[in-house]
Amino acid sequence: MMEPGAGTMGALPAGSGKPLLRALAGEASALPPVWLMRQAGRYLPEYRELRQQVPGFLDLCFSPELAAEVTLQPVRRFGLDAAILFSDILVVAHGLGQRLEFREGEGPVLEPVRDAGELRRLALAGLPERVAPVFDTVARVAASLPPQGALIGFAGSPWTVASYMVEGGGSRDFSRVKRWAFADPEGFGALIDLLVEATVIYVSGQIAAGAEAVQLFDSWAGVLPEREFRRFVIEPTRRIVQALKENHPRVPVIGFPRGAGLMYRAYFSGSGVTALGLDSTVPPEIARKTLQSIGPVQGNLDPLLLAAGGPPMAESVAAIRQAFAAGPFIFNLGHGIVPDTPVEHVAELVALLRQPLAPR
Ligand code: CP3
Repeated sequence: MMEPGAGTMGALPAGSGKPLLRALAGEASALPPVWLMRQAGRYLPEYRELRQQVPGFLDLCFSPELAAEVTLQPVRRFGLDAAILFSDILVVAHGLGQRLEFREGEGPVLEPVRDAGELRRLALAGLPERVAPVFDTVARVAASLPPQGALIGFAGSPWTVASYMVEGGGSRDFSRVKRWAFADPEGFGALIDLLVEATVIYVSGQIAAGAEAVQLFDSWAGVLPEREFRRFVIEPTRRIVQALKENHPRVPVIGFPRGAGLMYRAYFSGSGVTALGLDSTVPPEIARKTLQSIGPVQGNLDPLLLAAGGPPMAESVAAIRQAFAAGPFIFNLGHGIVPDTPVEHVAELVALLRQPLAPR
């Protein structure tokens, strides 16, 4: 049986018919909308080909025409329900004046910010101009999006962006950023405050350019103890959400505090985000009772189950759908697609999600 409303998108006013926006507004659907974190990227042959036209990854983020094309590639190929802006969370660090490089096979490398003195070299003043090409990308995507697709803008959350800024790149143990945050919460708090302001500017620009929803990626939220989680994850997110709601009350915000575990619930109610992104370790049946009762949830297939494909993937997809079917739900992975994912598996996943769930 189809839910009332399914398949009647054409009869609805523009915008309101997009399945992703309906789920974010609290509607349940027999066919959940789907998009995938890191849906544009190296697993796609058309991405790898286009990537050769520019020397570095940041050049691609700052080339609106190419970035818009990359944003649209997976939406066209798979008929996904959303396009996520092609950019990176570290564009904000660059916008604040921090030196940033993406080295092939090595990931991001930044000139680290480790104390108040180094922090003083960063400033909001240059940010809007430095990130302006990203807003141009958003406007271009908005102009050529297929009708069912919603446009998602994004930013990293202050804690996760700060972790890269302080560590100077990726980290195994986050010892430098934790040392600063734990030993000198006021001083480190100044970096978080700067990132709250920068994030509001960055995301507001995306909304003004046409983003219809926003996701805040807090990939490293899960490494903090409770007190610091509240101070450096929930509280800054709450301030960002509050500022966005003041100026753009109708734009939903998806929060993704990856690895938050037993703090997911405090994050969802405390931050005020519209919807909650779940990582793959969150058990769907528990999340249905404790998290989906607060609002829409998104997730949470393990990206390696997508890479595996076949029956193991199909069984997990069915279990996730079953658990969340009665409430507002967006299908996604529990983290980004891995680069060696076969494209056929993504097509297979979307085909599964376009069929009603077989009765148990
Ligand atoms: O989801 C999408 O398709 C939109 C684009 C997007 C990228 N990065 C493109 C990208 C988004 C939403 C991000 C978010 C991002 N970036 C996060 C949060 C999500 C997560 O994965 O935890 C983080 C932590 C970053 C920082 C970052 N960017 C790292 C650590 C790396 C190197 C590791 C890697 O995956 O290569 C990047 C590079 C990056 N960002 C690539 C892409 C497509 C690969 C660069 C390339 O094509 O050579």
